[in-house]
Amino acid sequence: MKDITCIADLRALARRRVPRAFFEYVDGGSYSEETLAANRADLTQLKLRQRVLVDVSERNLATTVLGRKISLPFILAPIGLCGMQYGNGEILSAQAANEAGIPFILSTMSVCSIEDVAEATRKPFWFQLYVIRDREFSRDILARARAANCDALVLTVDLQVLGQRHRDIKNGMTVPPEIRLKNVIDVATKPRWAWSILNGKRKTFGNLVGHLKGAESVTQLSKWVSAQFDPALNWKDVEWIKSVWPGKIIIKGILDVDDARTAVKLGADAIVVSNHGGRQLDGAPSSISMLPAVVDAVGSDTEVLFDGGIRTGADLLRALALGARACLIGRAYIYGLGAGGKRGVAKAIDILKSELSVSMALTGVNAVESVGPQVLVNPPPRTSAYGKA
Ligand SMILES: Cc1cc2nc3c(=O)[nH]c(=O)nc-3n(C[C@H](O)[C@H](O)[C@H](O)COP(=O)(O)O)c2cc1C
Repeated sequence: MKDITCIADLRALARRRVPRAFFEYVDGGSYSEETLAANRADLTQLKLRQRVLVDVSERNLATTVLGRKISLPFILAPIGLCGMQYGNGEILSAQAANEAGIPFILSTMSVCSIEDVAEATRKPFWFQLYVIRDREFSRDILARARAANCDALVLTVDLQVLGQRHRDIKNGMTVPPEIRLKNVIDVATKPRWAWSILNGKRKTFGNLVGHLKGAESVTQLSKWVSAQFDPALNWKDVEWIKSVWPGKIIIKGILDVDDARTAVKLGADAIVVSNHGGRQLDGAPSSISMLPAVVDAVGSDTEVLFDGGIRTGADLLRALALGARACLIGRAYIYGLGAGGKRGVAKAIDILKSELSVSMALTGVNAVESVGPQVLVNPPPRTSAYGKA
């Protein structure tokens, strides 16, 4: 991986190594992909303030989230079917996160199960819950997460119905992967991927099979999700979840000030300002454009985390400058996984770490905890959204 110098290189390598249907499942967004594009465009609108002659020989990248110290101000986001980018993808990513001293969040829709990841890692990870119609299943999976020592619950609330992703339909993305005539050549030219998947523990949704009826025969993901996910989910259910999960709860998928306030009222220990990486409501504003207003409304009552569009250390600095306590990274590490398994994830983490460190130095700050709007040339007003979308 010596020629890999940035996340864009990992993406290019993943594109060569992962079959098209699975690469595009990661790379794409919903509908016209406007929000996907806005996430990146609005981040790069924020210009960093070059400062000189500050002693930056020592830089501290550590911070705390939910009262726990983490070595870097980012967390590996929950990614459904992570283990289809590379065999045992969830285990390898969790191990890379452990080694870097940052949390890993396991998706409900993962390939490796909660138990698989717990068995293969030494430190606790976080579990992300999608609430489906069968509430007994939710109760049961939360008990499994507790038994596996997961130390925080991430409740994702922006996927009650699925935003259509045209590319998945056109590519005929299925779970477990189906080798059709049209993708035989594609898979045949991706031997590393095929080998890793063949040697992986599982080839379908590890958390669901054996616990949920019908999960064995999942084929078209979009259809299955529409049938299982609960469109009736509402704020009252958050109270129910709190009653069955005694630990910390992070509500992920908040993009609106009123929703942020409700989440805090219901006792969220943290929220994630997120539009699901531009994969849900197309036409929604970028998540960075909503961050200042959310931080202004609830930043003193809860921890505000952020995701959407982070591809560089400079992006991390931008989000921290607007008040994010830490960021979740999605595609940035998943490209690494597809490019080279655990080594690729470690590389992605390393790239972001060193880019952040340099960006901090050149904006004249020594510690993540002292990053604020002072590192921006054009900090947007805290009380309003900004950006083009
Ligand atoms: C391929 C893919 C699968 C995802 N699956 C989940 C999931 O299962 N649960 C969830 O809460 N978010 C999921 N997300 C959203 C991410 O957790 C995160 O919010 C998003 O990727 C952040 O944007 P970024 O990829 O630009 O960093 C997924 C994102 C991608 C790209």
